[in-house]
Amino acid sequence: MTSPVPDTITVDADRLWRSLMDLAEIGAYDDERTGLRGVNRLALTDADAAGRRQVIAWMEEAGLAVRVDRMGNIYGRREGTDPTAAPVLTGSHIDSVVTAGAFDGCLGGIEVVRTLHEHGIVTRRPIEVGVFTEEEGVRFGTDMLGSAVAAGRLTLDYAHALTDRDGRTLGDELARTGFDGPTDVRLDPPCAYVECHIEQGPVLAENGVGIGVVTGVQGISWQEITVHGRAAHAGTTPTQLRADAGLAAAEIIVRLRAMVDSGEYGELRATVGHLTVHPDLTNIVPARAELTVDLRNPDDAAMARAEEDLAAFLSELEDARPGLALTTRRMAGTPHVPFDETVQKVIAGAADDHGLAHISLLSGAGHDAQEIAALCPTAMIFVRGEYDGISHNPREYSTPETCARGVDVLATTLLRLAGQD
Ligand code: GLV
Ligand code: MN
Repeated sequence: MTSPVPDTITVDADRLWRSLMDLAEIGAYDDERTGLRGVNRLALTDADAAGRRQVIAWMEEAGLAVRVDRMGNIYGRREGTDPTAAPVLTGSHIDSVVTAGAFDGCLGGIEVVRTLHEHGIVTRRPIEVGVFTEEEGVRFGTDMLGSAVAAGRLTLDYAHALTDRDGRTLGDELARTGFDGPTDVRLDPPCAYVECHIEQGPVLAENGVGIGVVTGVQGISWQEITVHGRAAHAGTTPTQLRADAGLAAAEIIVRLRAMVDSGEYGELRATVGHLTVHPDLTNIVPARAELTVDLRNPDDAAMARAEEDLAAFLSELEDARPGLALTTRRMAGTPHVPFDETVQKVIAGAADDHGLAHISLLSGAGHDAQEIAALCPTAMIFVRGEYDGISHNPREYSTPETCARGVDVLATTLLRLAGQD
């Protein structure tokens, strides 16, 4: 039996929390540094595959028809009354970094359809819940990978050929985990896309609100730099005879921080999150250093200047240090992506109708929404994180109440979009 479509809808906060906590048990580990329980569900590992199977089971219990595409992206579909209408899509990811909390990516789509299901509500348009592969990009080196291929920015061949640090390809890992699905990866344009996500930053807490309407995502630039030097004896090699790859890596890190502090590149953020030296031994001058550079900037022109100036610094370094050679490899790059104003208004209206204070803000983190935005009007809902919004850390936390209110806003937004012509 179907019920009339209400104007707002409220999800089951306890059930949502139980699911979040149950999912967090998959890939859980004891984090020595924080003494907390963290989540390690790196894309297409056994833990990620177990999480995917759990999510599929939940989708099926909620009456969704599940399909898996050739990138391992999972979609659960709930039909509407109009079989010709394009669906409203929601979603995110369940892959994680290796030191994650329980919240990054996992908020809400399934709880929305459970709620529609139990209230017997049928929308005009179908609603689909997507789970995208390798959003984090930390295993295969390119972030938002599954959604980027679904939206057509990257090719399936490019993605399948990417390798992890042990040389395993994404294509092989899809096959090994059983998630090399049969359906075409290119997504037919949905009518709209809305993603609910923990903020992963301090802005909502600083403003004393629980909900953010996301205006877009800042630009992201990832590259890997390899410094080739010369291994030599630590005790006998005079300083002027060294080609020390480790020293050059350190100079790059310090230079990046100076670029940020100079204020010449707008709101640039720069991170070297991966650094290894070879042969990695106490008494050997490093022969090689590998490091990654993650740049973020809301201003594309300032980002381009930062990339050019970093490249110029690398060639100066090479010229100034005989015996050193530097190579770079682009891993990922996306511009600032503005979100659709109409969808932002629907989200803000839903928050108002739930009596929830909200602000608008730009996302500092990358999200699948920035890829799907190429296909259809898109925006995001942020929920406040505690402890300065720390994320990519087991301390990541949002309260049960805040999560539920964010998913209420998602539910009402989806209901309204799925009722539109
Ligand atoms: C993904 O979380 C990113 O912004 O790196
Ligand atoms: Mn995420």
